[in-house]
Amino acid sequence: MLISTATTQSDLTAMVDRRVDGLPLEQVLGWAEFCGLRMAVDAGVFVPRARTELLVRQAVAGARAGAVVVDLCCGSGAVGAALAVALDRIELHAVDIDPAAVRCARRNIGADGHVYEGDLYEPLPAGLRGRVDVLVANAPYVPTEAIGLMPREARLHEPLVALDGGSDGLDVVRRVAAAAPQWLVVGGSLLIETSERQAPRTIEELARGGMSPRVVGCEESDATVVIAVR
Ligand SMILES: C[S@@+](CC[C@H](N)C(=O)[O-])C[C@H]1O[C@@H](n2cnc3c(N)ncnc32)[C@H](O)[C@@H]1O
Repeated sequence: MLISTATTQSDLTAMVDRRVDGLPLEQVLGWAEFCGLRMAVDAGVFVPRARTELLVRQAVAGARAGAVVVDLCCGSGAVGAALAVALDRIELHAVDIDPAAVRCARRNIGADGHVYEGDLYEPLPAGLRGRVDVLVANAPYVPTEAIGLMPREARLHEPLVALDGGSDGLDVVRRVAAAAPQWLVVGGSLLIETSERQAPRTIEELARGGMSPRVVGCEESDATVVIAVR
């Protein structure tokens, strides 16, 4: 992959050096394959994972053409960008708190949507309240004490804000769940990626907000998504 991406011999040498230094392959290449698409991934931005394709598949299954879609904690924007390709004429809004992620998401989403910098729902236009059909979030969900057990690529080259979900891993998820009913249209869906272990607690958080959650898993990709309908 390095050979086919490098344009010159010196480019290739530099890429090999960065990979040997431990940078994730996708950050060295500058792109990751996600849902069959090539997404730009800048250094210091969370690398979209294959397991997150389940979140996209589930969102597509429950959405219609022209849906209003919000991608919270969008990182590189891979989830939103894949939804814009899979679904006709969606109105896409994506948010991330990290300026590097926002720059990357703007490249991946382009004219297919709006990308905002800020804390969860805070930068979204007020006019979206009660209008969102599909709310997707792959928020950080690793418990703080488990960060040290992650592979070096993640620990050293992905920002802590993209990984650290607080003491039980659910700090950000809890805030996403609590405010979701204010933004979703009646019948709209919130889809949150989580781990198998955290799924029961994530369900509790969504049920607390008055929604009806269920879990979908994919053993092959070690993926778990909690889906709740308002
Ligand atoms: C696990 S990464 C997922 C990125 C992307 N959704 C994906 O699946 O590739 C989590 C992202 O959440 C962002 N984030 C963390 N806290 C946030 C907050 N309070 N508001 C908005 N974004 C946040 C991080 O900057 C990071 O890009």
